[in-house]
Amino acid sequence: MLYPGPPPSHIEGMALLKIARMGHPVLRGVAGAVDDPTAPWVRRLVEDMVETMEDAGGTGIAAPQVHQPYRIVVFQVLGDRLSDMPGDVAQDLTVLINPVVETIGPERAFGWEGCLSVPGLRGVVPRHLHVRYRGTGLDGDVIEREVEGFHARVVQHECDHLDGILYPQRMTDHRLLVFLEELQRHPIDLAAVLAQKPTA
Ligand code: NI
Repeated sequence: MLYPGPPPSHIEGMALLKIARMGHPVLRGVAGAVDDPTAPWVRRLVEDMVETMEDAGGTGIAAPQVHQPYRIVVFQVLGDRLSDMPGDVAQDLTVLINPVVETIGPERAFGWEGCLSVPGLRGVVPRHLHVRYRGTGLDGDVIEREVEGFHARVVQHECDHLDGILYPQRMTDHRLLVFLEELQRHPIDLAAVLAQKPTA
């Protein structure tokens, strides 16, 4: 063929997707399971989710956040927020399809979270410290890990999106839902605030 036409759109490159914000019904729904994790549409969606997450500076993103009601999350765990727990390990970009999170033990901890669907805010959320998660990767292989601390927090946050849960719904002390800009101006001593009872 002397003059090949343009390539099919799915190999033209990745795309930035529109991120749903708190209040959009897609964020409240229960996402559906993916029948075939190796299907080409899943790979294309994941590539776009990764590009969207990186462009927005997120730690992770779930498919419902880009208006796709499927059980797919991508995340990475960078070293700068890890605790000293042995299972709190950095993690390269991970794609989990149809993930299942199982909590281990009763221990929880409070920590700061943000969310691309709740822009500009940060909140302190109690999360299980120790979890095991399992899901399928894009190649169809099973991924199973047991993790702690911040890594466990990231996975719980992302997988909550698949059940229509945003982090403010997990908060137990809403004095600690704040604008990031104010938090940077007025750092919060978390332990001190948590120790002090709200006067409501
Ligand atoms: Ni989120």
